[in-house]
Amino acid sequence: QVAVITVDGPSGSGKGTICQLLAKELGWHLLDSGALYRLTALAARHHGVELDDVEALEVLAAHLDVQFKASDNGKGVQIVLEGEEVTHAIRNERVGEDASVIAALGPVREALLNRQRDFAGAPGLVADGRDMGTVVFPSAELKIYLDASAEERAQRRYKQLISKEPGASLDDILNDIKARDARDMNRAVAPLKPAPDAVRLDTTTMTIDEVLQAVLDEARH
Ligand code: CDP
Repeated sequence: QVAVITVDGPSGSGKGTICQLLAKELGWHLLDSGALYRLTALAARHHGVELDDVEALEVLAAHLDVQFKASDNGKGVQIVLEGEEVTHAIRNERVGEDASVIAALGPVREALLNRQRDFAGAPGLVADGRDMGTVVFPSAELKIYLDASAEERAQRRYKQLISKEPGASLDDILNDIKARDARDMNRAVAPLKPAPDAVRLDTTTMTIDEVLQAVLDEARH
């Protein structure tokens, strides 16, 4: 059994950034589980599968032809879906929206379960998601739950987006964040919630570096 640190939390809580830095710092593998839901959503679009066709979505999720390649410039990974580079395409807001819709479907989650567990490997894994500590890696050595106020999370999203989309509106982003939270927390299967044994960090007034240090402190306990 290999070491696993799970990091769960809502949209904009800083999980993605923290997990990348943490995996780099520890020299561990990284699982971006949200990318698998996004990839399933993108595959559905490519194949003309409707978001309520549970059986077809389950088949797509079970057979996702995806590769995560270390990119040439050493910056992060390149994601290839059915031979096509989709690293940026899966970050699209609409794909995120579709991902959160299909993530509410039990059979889709089930189909992605083993694929997620396969990321575990020596010397360890940092797993980023919504149900890493509650469902996918329930016996992880360390579980972190990152949170922040919806307003702060919307601000962070806005700052990321404004360079790419000059017309972005903070109000729209806040509404999206609240809708995403509601969907992630209220779904019947694997709802977003802290595992009972998770260390909870409210990052509203913390810098990325402070959060990273706090998590590393926990990891080195
Ligand atoms: O970037 P953002 O945090 O909004 O999303 P993400 O982590 O890329 O995940 C996209 C969507 O997939 C989320 O809104 C969740 O609904 C869903 N998801 C999930 O249900 N379980 C996971 N382990 C990861 C993501």
